[in-house]
Amino acid sequence: MGVSAAYDAHADWYHDFMSPAAGDYLGRVHRTLADLLGPGQGVCLDVCCGTGAHATAVAALGWTAIGVDLSRGQLRHAAARLPVAVADATALPIADGGVDAAVCVLASTDVPEYGKVVAEIARVLRPGGRFAHLGVHPCFVGAFADWADAPRVVVDQRYAERGHTFETWNPRGVRARVGGWQIPLADLLNTVSEAGLRLVRTAEAGPGGVPDLFGFLAVKHVG
Ligand SMILES: C[S@@+](CC[C@H](N)C(=O)[O-])C[C@H]1O[C@@H](n2cnc3c(N)ncnc32)[C@H](O)[C@@H]1O
Repeated sequence: MGVSAAYDAHADWYHDFMSPAAGDYLGRVHRTLADLLGPGQGVCLDVCCGTGAHATAVAALGWTAIGVDLSRGQLRHAAARLPVAVADATALPIADGGVDAAVCVLASTDVPEYGKVVAEIARVLRPGGRFAHLGVHPCFVGAFADWADAPRVVVDQRYAERGHTFETWNPRGVRARVGGWQIPLADLLNTVSEAGLRLVRTAEAGPGGVPDLFGFLAVKHVG
């Protein structure tokens, strides 16, 4: 079973997990996403939209949100929140330059090669279009990081590993259920230039001094 199909078995749980019951985490995701994407008009594609938990936040900025995901279980929930289609983020059923903006939230550790997703997003963005990435912080969240004694976070040598693993300090989180891929910071940022996009700005956010979220805004070149 592929990593994405793994969400079918956990979609109802994920829907509850990524809800206002998640407390400040979801609020932090939405504030950081809004800060990066910014207000605008036109179609914003939510790549790996999951249950559509960020559709309202994207729409509140003025965008018309649409979503794609591989998991039909996740999309059962998302369909109540935005127009959706089943699609692989590395082969989007969208014409070149077909969308004005794109977001990809908390999904970079769910795909084996995030660079392929960013390249595909770059293809479907119109010239001047924006891409806001937001994910778990590549330096401080993963199998290599132990938050059990937060605010002291312990990072170990597994940071450099790039494989898929279910290892996690938190038995109640997403990774214990579906696992995750590690993408070190340099690899993540290099996806932007490799896709031909221009990095505009980055953002970090967290519950305290150590950030658990990292994001960036990238723009497609005009002409
Ligand atoms: C942790 S969830 C994040 C969902 C949503 N973006 C959010 O922030 O709540 C990761 C999502 O990525 C989807 N996914 C993983 N690989 C994918 C792929 N290749 N194409 C499309 N969706 C994919 C999974 O099905 C899952 O819904």
